[in-house]
Amino acid sequence: MYGTDELYFRIMEERDLEPMRILHNDPSTLYNLTDITPVNEVMQKKWFESMSQSKSSKRYVVCTKQGGSEVILGLVRFNEIDFVNRNMLVGLDIMPQFRGQGLGTKTYKLMCDYCFKELNMHKVTLYVGNFNDRGKHLYQKMGFKEEGVLKEALYRDGKYHDCIIMSLFRRDCLNNG
Ligand SMILES: CC(C)(COP(=O)(O)OP(=O)(O)OC[C@H]1O[C@@H](n2cnc3c(N)ncnc32)[C@H](O)[C@@H]1OP(=O)(O)O)[C@@H](O)C(=O)NCCC(=O)NCCS
Repeated sequence: MYGTDELYFRIMEERDLEPMRILHNDPSTLYNLTDITPVNEVMQKKWFESMSQSKSSKRYVVCTKQGGSEVILGLVRFNEIDFVNRNMLVGLDIMPQFRGQGLGTKTYKLMCDYCFKELNMHKVTLYVGNFNDRGKHLYQKMGFKEEGVLKEALYRDGKYHDCIIMSLFRRDCLNNG
């Protein structure tokens, strides 16, 4: 568990599979992911088993405590964790009913703290569709800078869209001051 009772993330467990599958399959989430394939229960279980063996990919569930009970708010994705070059990919999906309340911002602060202060990363990178205005605004606010563009890499609504690569260095992390 990383954070406080008000907001924390913890490693994803088997009991989280269904709420995480529902979050993934929600059209408003899928639209913003690189792979827009919906996942059924069998696929989700197989994916979780292989993910659990991986050292370079991790999934964490974002939660808060309300009246002593845990409420699930979203999912943190860490991929391509590289402890030699000290960089990694990050991602976050907040459940639809909890979006637009500042939770993405607070969770990104926690994620950056964890990546730089615990995992000792030098740089964290994310991919965002050029159409994802809310995501881009949030990442810029957190100090992520555009590093490159994968031109016409995402196909949505009958059109190709650019995928933006954004990175945050440890030295530029607003929390690290
Ligand atoms: C992207 C996401 C993680 C952000 O989490 P959130 O809890 O909604 O974000 P917050 O409420 O902390 O902040 C959103 C910010 O975007 C702004 N915003 C909201 N809609 C916006 C829009 N259409 N254009 C620009 N900015 C927008 C908000 O005003 C807020 O900025 P502010 O704090 O400066 O006012 C969440 O919306 C989500 O899971 N979306 C669907 C899946 C997704 O996009 N995943 C990421 C893939 S890269």
